[in-house]
Amino acid sequence: MSETYPPPAAAGGSTIRLENVGTTFTVAGGSFTAVDDVSLTIPGGSIQGIIGFSGAGKSTLLRNINLLERPTSGRVWVDGEDLTALDDRALRRRRHGIGMIFQHFNLLNNLTAAQNVELSLKFAGVPGPERRRRAAEALDVVDLADKAGTYPAKLSGGQKQRVAIARALATNPKVLLCDEPTSAVDPRTTASVLQYLTDVNREFGITVVLVTHEMNVVKAIADNVAVMESGRVVEQFDLTELARPGFAPATAIGRYLVSDDVELDRPKVRAAAPAAAQAVAGV
Ligand SMILES: Nc1ncnc2c1ncn2[C@@H]1O[C@H](COP(=O)(O)OP(=O)(O)OP(=O)(O)O)[C@@H](O)[C@H]1O
Ligand SMILES: [Mg+2]
Repeated sequence: MSETYPPPAAAGGSTIRLENVGTTFTVAGGSFTAVDDVSLTIPGGSIQGIIGFSGAGKSTLLRNINLLERPTSGRVWVDGEDLTALDDRALRRRRHGIGMIFQHFNLLNNLTAAQNVELSLKFAGVPGPERRRRAAEALDVVDLADKAGTYPAKLSGGQKQRVAIARALATNPKVLLCDEPTSAVDPRTTASVLQYLTDVNREFGITVVLVTHEMNVVKAIADNVAVMESGRVVEQFDLTELARPGFAPATAIGRYLVSDDVELDRPKVRAAAPAAAQAVAGV
């Protein structure tokens, strides 16, 4: 394997290559394999869905990408650099290029929206005045400039998630890791959050990796999907495949997840992102 594999992304987003990644936890009475020999390439600038039932290993795999959970086997390449080979200092630096957002937003309640966003810049060593400027810019991207001085308790769920997106964007990342970003918000807010994720992907070319258990979320914005079961990626396909007559996922779980869209009021063909995101909310 060459040191420069895979090639750097042409667009603004990083190409990610997971190579035989495994994560085994030590548990009472033995060990438990949460991620089992996963190999996956995520092209720079794409939106990659990772879907599966609870306990499938989705969050662990996502955390393997920035080594928040260091894999026990395999390698993680980001733009041709093997993150698993870096020392702690170099890894910390690389992590500034990988933003992350979570189901429950993870905002600090005693800080305003702007201060929450500034925090990621502070960790990145950005000086004060520059921090304030970039935090304001990031809040502007998610249309929350007017909420800069507001504390999380006075923000809606969707606004909190947008602050979290701004916080993740403030360090100009090339990758945005999203762990169930819409499962704590209502369907209309889901559409709004997905819209912002699509916008940052399109405008800045950021590679988005989106973990969810909802296929309608994947269908709305992802380019490709990986289906996980018992720690393994059991199949992957391009979302445009869904429009191909006769296409059916290869695995039973893939077929189940694809058919599990009874609440949707939209065609199965992946439309342009704004319409698709609205369709998730049924608006
Ligand atoms: N630190 C840990 N120690 C032991 N087991 C763990 C640890 N973290 C996760 N697991 C186990 O690994 C499996 C996969 O967990 P993970 O959180 O990755 O699943 P998930 O697909 O994200 O599930 P959910 O949809 O419920 O969030 C689960 O059985 C979980 O209990
Ligand atoms: Mg999870």
